[in-house]
Amino acid sequence: TRIEKAGHRHFMGKEIHEQPQTLSGVLSRYIEGDRIVLPTDYDFSATDRIQMVACGTAQIACSVAKYWFEALARLPAEVDIASEYRYREGPVGIDTTALFVSQSGETADTLAALRYARGKARAILSVVNVVESSIARDSDIIYPIHAGVEVGVASTKAFVNQLAVLLCLAIAAGVQRGEIDAQREAELVAGLKLLPGLMSQGLTIEERCEALASRLSEASDILFLGRGPMYPMAHEGALKLKEISYIHAEAYASGELKHGPIALVDRTLPVVVFAPMDPLFEKTVSNMQEVMAREGQVLLVTDADGAKQASDGVWEVLVMPRIDPVFAPILYALPAQLLAYHTAVHKGTDVDQPRNLAKSVTVE
Ligand code: G6P
Repeated sequence: TRIEKAGHRHFMGKEIHEQPQTLSGVLSRYIEGDRIVLPTDYDFSATDRIQMVACGTAQIACSVAKYWFEALARLPAEVDIASEYRYREGPVGIDTTALFVSQSGETADTLAALRYARGKARAILSVVNVVESSIARDSDIIYPIHAGVEVGVASTKAFVNQLAVLLCLAIAAGVQRGEIDAQREAELVAGLKLLPGLMSQGLTIEERCEALASRLSEASDILFLGRGPMYPMAHEGALKLKEISYIHAEAYASGELKHGPIALVDRTLPVVVFAPMDPLFEKTVSNMQEVMAREGQVLLVTDADGAKQASDGVWEVLVMPRIDPVFAPILYALPAQLLAYHTAVHKGTDVDQPRNLAKSVTVE
C-alpha cells in the first residue's frame, strides 16, 4: 500500500500527528480491562538483571525504560549502545534477560549485539516495529510496537510506541516481582489509558514551537537539560534537532551542568529545560536559575503549575498538560519532536530525508 502524507508537508509531521492513534493502538494490544497482558508471557521474577541494547532513538527509549524497570519492578537495568556492547566482551550472566529495541529490526550493530548475547543470556527479547525482520527472527520473544510504517528518517511514532511497550513490560515485571499490587496496577493502567488524550492535547504546543523556530534556527548550539527520565528525553530533543535541523545540540543531566557545560552559557545559548511537575522539579528549577544567572536563554517545558512557579525571567515557556510523572517521558516526546521539526522546516532542510542519514543502517 502506498503511504501518503495526508495533507501534511512531510511524513515526519504526519507521523507526529498520528501519535495519539498509534499509541492508543499499541496500548489496546497490551491492556485487558485494568491489567497489563503481554502478547507472550515472560517470567521477569526469574531474572536478576535486564540488559537493553539498541542504536539511535531506540537506545534513548531504553534509557528511559531503565528508570521504569528499576523504579517500578526493582529490576536492575543496564543500557548499552549496540556498537559498543558487541565489542566490549562484557559478561552476560545466565540469569540476565537481554532486550533489543529496533524499529526496523535490521540495524546491523543491534543484530550483531543480539548474536553476541545469544546462548549466554537467559532469554533474548526484542521490541520491534517490523515483525518480519532479522532481529525478530533471532529472538526468543518479540514484543511488537504496532506503530505502522514509519517513513520519516527521524523516528517519532515508533519511539513513542517503543516507550509504551517498554513501560508495559516494566509494569508486568513489577506485578510478577511483587512490587506492584492489583490496585497499583489498575492505577497505572488507568494512567496509560489517559495518555492518547493527553498526547492530543499536547499537540496544541505546535503553534508555539512554530513561533520559536526562527529564534532557534539562528542558534549555533542548543543545550537540553533534564533530570531523572527527563535526562534521556533531553537526549532525544538534542538528537532530533541535530538530525533534521543540523544545529549542534547537547543534552546534559541538569545536576551535572555545573561540572562543565555551564562554562558555555552566555546570552546566545538557548537552553531547553524539560521539567514536568515531579519530585525533582525544584532541583531542576534551581539548575535552570544557574543558567539564567549567566544570561542563558531558557525555554522551560513544564505544565501549568510549573509555569506558575518558575516562569520568572525565562525566555519562553511551553505549557504541557498535567501528567503523572511515570508517564511524562511519553508526553514530553512531543516538545522534543516539534521543536526540532519546526526549526528544520524554518531552515528549509530536508526533514524526511536528512543528509547523511538512513532510515535503517544495515552496515557496521
Ligand atoms: C538510524 C535512524 C534512527 C534510528 C536508528 C536505529 O540511525 O536514522 O532514527 O533510531 O537507526 O534504528 P532501528 O531501526 O534499529 O530502531
